[in-house]
Amino acid sequence: MKVAVLGANGQLGRDVAAAFSAQKNAVTTLTHEQIEVGSLDSVRAALEGIRPNLVVNTAAFHHVEKCEADPALAFAVNGIGARNVAQVTDSLGAALIHIGTDYVFDGVKGAPYTEADGPNPLNVYGNTKLSGEHFVRTTNPKHFVVRVSAIYGENPCRAKGGLNFVELMLKLSQERPELRVVDDEFVTPTPTSQIARQLVELSQSSDYGLYHATAEGSCSWYEFAAAIFEITGTKVRLEKSRPGEFPAKVPRPKYSVLENAALKRRSLNVFTHWKEGLQEYLARREAAMKLVNA
Ligand SMILES: NC(=O)c1ccc[n+]([C@@H]2O[C@H](COP(=O)([O-])OP(=O)(O)OC[C@H]3O[C@@H](n4cnc5c(N)ncnc54)[C@H](OP(=O)(O)O)[C@@H]3O)[C@@H](O)[C@H]2O)c1
Repeated sequence: MKVAVLGANGQLGRDVAAAFSAQKNAVTTLTHEQIEVGSLDSVRAALEGIRPNLVVNTAAFHHVEKCEADPALAFAVNGIGARNVAQVTDSLGAALIHIGTDYVFDGVKGAPYTEADGPNPLNVYGNTKLSGEHFVRTTNPKHFVVRVSAIYGENPCRAKGGLNFVELMLKLSQERPELRVVDDEFVTPTPTSQIARQLVELSQSSDYGLYHATAEGSCSWYEFAAAIFEITGTKVRLEKSRPGEFPAKVPRPKYSVLENAALKRRSLNVFTHWKEGLQEYLARREAAMKLVNA
């Protein structure tokens, strides 16, 4: 297949490009310098030159506070940008994998959200990403809208200044005697490598539609930090933050755990438990550090 990956130098985009390349697809990577999803002309020019069979759109404006401060830009990228990509892929007869988010939910359910649950975003980011989903679903019938959550990987998240949660915790543990982490926000930390593998698997099917794609199980950010320190044998005092200690500047769902119901129904789910994914990530990290220090 000819595959084009948008947001190709991002945290997820890099792993997605690598996973499709590893399966002998002809992959074209497109960074923000090469395509502006907010411009239909730019999307047309970039994709008509490639004529891909499949486009994976990982590009987004997803810094939650910045989206709240600039809703017009957030909508231009996450809403209209998704529409532009859907329109051009449709005109080329290409399938589209569009990356969505757990932040389309309000967290009130308190139990894992399936694809059948109604969204109710709490902030600009979630609303604009939801508008993007609608544009994709109504513009290109050959679409997979794939919602992910709390992702981390070997490559830096460009929107969030580079360090993922695992790296941030390990860095802070070297700088501070005590760390305090929130214990009242629940997610499923998911390695980008597993999402990339899942997208390759999904791309072989023609069961288009909406998919949740996260690791199994769930945890609070405090529990995630505790697992990071336990697996790495890091000695640091870890405490649960007090209620209101880290007030959120923008409302966020307290519970955004997703259930991969659609993937499981179609026997396509490749994800392992979040702790297993974390162990694998930390093992790869240690191996890479040994190589650097050798
Ligand atoms: N990170 C998370 O925890 C999380 C959770 C749920 C869902 N998601 C979703 O996962 C996807 C990937 O996130 P990520 O962590 O890989 O983010 P990332 O590292 O920030 O990558 C996003 C990529 O999109 C590019 N981009 C931004 N605006 C663009 C535009 N207008 N036109 C073209 N390209 C543009 C960025 O390029 P520049 O940096 O050069 O602008 C970057 O390469 C996003 O759709 C996000 O909404 C992420």
